Amino acid sequence: MQVAVYRLIIIFVSTVGKSTIPALRPESYAGGFPIIRPIPWVNAMSQLENYIDEQKTRFEDDLCELLRIPSVSTDGQHDAEIRQAAEFLVKQFQQMPLDVELIETPGNPLVYAESAPVPGRPVVLVYGHYDVQPPDPLDEWESPPFEPTRRDGNLYARGATDDKGQMLTHVKSAEAWMKTEGNLPIQVKYLIEGEEEVGSSGLNDYLSKPETAEKLACDVVVISDTSQFSRGQPAITYGLKGIAYFELFLTGPKQDLHSGTFGGGVTNPANTLCRMLASLVDNQGRVLIPGFYDDVIPISERERSQFSTLPFDEQAFMQQIGVKGVSGEAGYTTLERRWARPTYDINGITSGYQGEGAKTVLPARASAKSSFRLVPNQDPEKINENLQQHLAEICPPGIEMDLRPLHHAPGFVVSLDSPYIDAAARAIERGFGRSPVFIREGGSIPIVNDFSDKLGVDTLLLGWGLDDDNTHSPNEKFSLADFHRGIRSSAHLWQELSRIES
Ligand code: BES
Ligand code: MN
Ligand code: MN
Repeated sequence: MQVAVYRLIIIFVSTVGKSTIPALRPESYAGGFPIIRPIPWVNAMSQLENYIDEQKTRFEDDLCELLRIPSVSTDGQHDAEIRQAAEFLVKQFQQMPLDVELIETPGNPLVYAESAPVPGRPVVLVYGHYDVQPPDPLDEWESPPFEPTRRDGNLYARGATDDKGQMLTHVKSAEAWMKTEGNLPIQVKYLIEGEEEVGSSGLNDYLSKPETAEKLACDVVVISDTSQFSRGQPAITYGLKGIAYFELFLTGPKQDLHSGTFGGGVTNPANTLCRMLASLVDNQGRVLIPGFYDDVIPISERERSQFSTLPFDEQAFMQQIGVKGVSGEAGYTTLERRWARPTYDINGITSGYQGEGAKTVLPARASAKSSFRLVPNQDPEKINENLQQHLAEICPPGIEMDLRPLHHAPGFVVSLDSPYIDAAARAIERGFGRSPVFIREGGSIPIVNDFSDKLGVDTLLLGWGLDDDNTHSPNEKFSLADFHRGIRSSAHLWQELSRIES
């Protein structure tokens, strides 16, 4: 009878998985009463959690050390610091110790590390990036971008959330396992790159080598480089947007001209640029290049209703970004527009006189950087062709046009129906004290498509960041509480994944 009752508890615990009841199993019976011992992992997890608590300050100090390195990848001016960041990671892995190598690429080095194989258990590939965006505009930072500063429970620095802080959680969780248990319950492979912010060309190069697929062979990829739904509400992200990024150059007369003498008689490249860009999207937020929506998968009613159950506060959202109203594609909510509809944004425009006061000039040149964010099934190559053709057709006499595609990647969605997702949800619940919601996001991590194409595996996007972390902006931050919750969730993730046979 008692045996049956305990079997029932076990079944309950293992199927519900999210219960706060500790997992128990009958070990032996004395005098008719069962002696219940926790299964070993409960013990292991409390030791791990203690270690993670005890090492809190040092974990933060290590993150600060990494954040002090200005490993900016955009301009090629920081090669020494890029290398320094890669070497910092090499040292982190050596100290655990895990096997680690610095892999040279034509671009920035990759850091690869792995723990010991655990036969019969899943292999995980953790991906992250140690490169960061430039800190500009510098005068808008309250504390210098590469002097990490603690303020109101946050750590402020370029790269705090994107991606040094988030990435390091998976390194520290492995350290905790190594130092308390001597090894990890599954094999974890780490691949940390230094060119994510500029298109991952070194990593692409490495992924296309024939021997790489075997080396990186795994059952699932884990990435923490996204966000929670909101403060206190963790999330698993099952979709990202793709991107098609272009720079458009227009050239008119051979030099800047007097706008009175020549205006009206000479095609103005700046006027033309404005008209060309304006022709790409209407005032209902619809992109106008031919065929743009042909391959777009409509958002299903089911997904729309799921989005609408999330507690999205539009007023708080507007306040956060400092606007009094929002607009976008007609017929869609803000979350739908941000997560699941393709969009067009100008990223920067350059032309003519930018100094103080009025200079009457007809500029010789104009250029713009702009990008489409794509949803799954849209083909960036096709968009590239259609855009080229559309712009060429409307380009007026007297203007030479040069459209340069800079980089592109398709969108991404992953099935929620997988034991890895379930394991991640349990781990997050243990680390954050709350079960995650399932969301999509508008950002892009192009390499996830390559992991799926070249390694044949899905990616778990477990974001510890927040939408108001000021990613790519001044005063980037990461919540220290979320840093530690991320480490705990990651430590639990290795455990939860080890319960899956593979
Ligand atoms: N971590 C971001 C991607 C991201 C941002 C995902 C927000 C989800 C929400 C990543 O570092 C990034 O900035 N990606 C670029 C990709 C581009 C350089 C190809 C992006 O989204 O602009
Ligand atoms: Mn990132
Ligand atoms: Mn980024």
